[in-house]
Amino acid sequence: MGEHVTLTYGGKTVELPLVVGSEGEKAIDISRLRRDTGLITLDYGYANTGSCYSAITYMDGENGILRYRGIPVEELAEHSTFIETAYLLINGTLPNRTQLNRFSVLLNDNSLVHEDMRSFYEKYPRASHPMGILSSMVNALRSFYPELQSVEEEINITMTRLLSKARTMAAMSYKISRGHKMVYPRSDLTYCANFLNMMFDTPVKPYRLDSELVEALNVFWILHADHEQNCSTSAVRVVGSGRVNLYAAISAGIAALWGPLHGGANQAVIEMLTDIQRSGGSIMPFIKRAKDKNDPFRLMGFGHRVYKAYDPRAKIMKEMCHRVLQNLKRHDPLLDIAMKLEEVALQDAFFVENNLYPNVDFYSGIVLRAMGIPTNMFTVMFAIGRLPGWIAQWKESMDDPNWKLCRPRQIYTGPKKTDYVPLDER
Ligand code: ACO
Repeated sequence: MGEHVTLTYGGKTVELPLVVGSEGEKAIDISRLRRDTGLITLDYGYANTGSCYSAITYMDGENGILRYRGIPVEELAEHSTFIETAYLLINGTLPNRTQLNRFSVLLNDNSLVHEDMRSFYEKYPRASHPMGILSSMVNALRSFYPELQSVEEEINITMTRLLSKARTMAAMSYKISRGHKMVYPRSDLTYCANFLNMMFDTPVKPYRLDSELVEALNVFWILHADHEQNCSTSAVRVVGSGRVNLYAAISAGIAALWGPLHGGANQAVIEMLTDIQRSGGSIMPFIKRAKDKNDPFRLMGFGHRVYKAYDPRAKIMKEMCHRVLQNLKRHDPLLDIAMKLEEVALQDAFFVENNLYPNVDFYSGIVLRAMGIPTNMFTVMFAIGRLPGWIAQWKESMDDPNWKLCRPRQIYTGPKKTDYVPLDER
């Protein structure tokens, strides 16, 4: 018998099993707690709650470690491509050459979007946020591609279709928002090159692919590919637990990612840096506001629920920022402001004591700006990157024989039983 934790309550003692992960993380298994004691647990934001076993991503927030299927994200960023990393996350191992080729062909074969979906896009008000459009369009894919999900082959095609079409749909939404003609995917281009081409090619000015930017996009998407049980991934798992189709579960993940405390932070960071620039470049008023408990303002791109050290993705993103701008021979004043802000914050007692470091979103917007991606598309870029992780986590939950309908409890604090009062007596 393994280790236990003893809980004494109401004169009764119960033994709660201690479970241990492959990296030595420990957790108290409370799945029988209510049955044995009548108690439930209360944990706002689930900061102390493990929701599942997972073999996909390992994070060590204290030491700034992130690994996909055991491989450090730094190694993947240096050697892999986004597509290879997506395969790794979804299938559990790196593909061999034949598997990778087959995966690429499948992605190409599924890259077109049903022409009837274009009319949906065209009817959206021009000012619509692309995240709202992407979330609803991914959900709509179920109506256009209603194939079964119970057969292994069909599940593989559904997952690949989603990876491929979501990228096409994201570029489509940008083109439509600009009132431009849509550019179709090309089978001679890689996943990342295809995306940039669909975004920026026009009949009057053919897009010249820059290998530096294609490489930067690969790294950008690898860094976003999974992050274990974060807000949007948990949304995918929770919604999926009701056994909805994959498209609906991912659509929920996209909606969750949109929020400025989560994936929407990359847009919020650029807006904040722009505000600093407009106000004359002075950092201190913003630092002061971030520290003021009575002010809801937060330093966007700083802090993380799990990382209490420097986010390893932010480190790679920062280096990439410098490299890309240098190679493009471009200067972005927002990078100067970001670096100054980081320097000041990391020396400030409030940020030091609360372990607040730059997260992945702090420098990512500057890389995206260098690619020409408009600010309101930033979170969409995050969403495409996170697709392999959401899909892998959804698949893992569906394959887990212990996965149940997610249904938390609550502590009720409303009125006790009260009689109904007829309308004319109130
Ligand atoms: N600016 C100012 N204060 C902050 C910030 C920040 N960016 N982040 C945390 N704090 C404060 C909190 O208010 C808290 O203060 P309190 O103890 O007086 O209430 C203290 O620092 C400790 O915060 P944590 O418990 O570490 O933060 P939490 O886990 O609740 O929140 C979160 C994490 C939501 C990411 C937060 O740091 C934040 O709002 N950051 C800004 C938004 C952002 O960049 N989000 C992207 C995160 S990465 C991602 O999701 C992709």
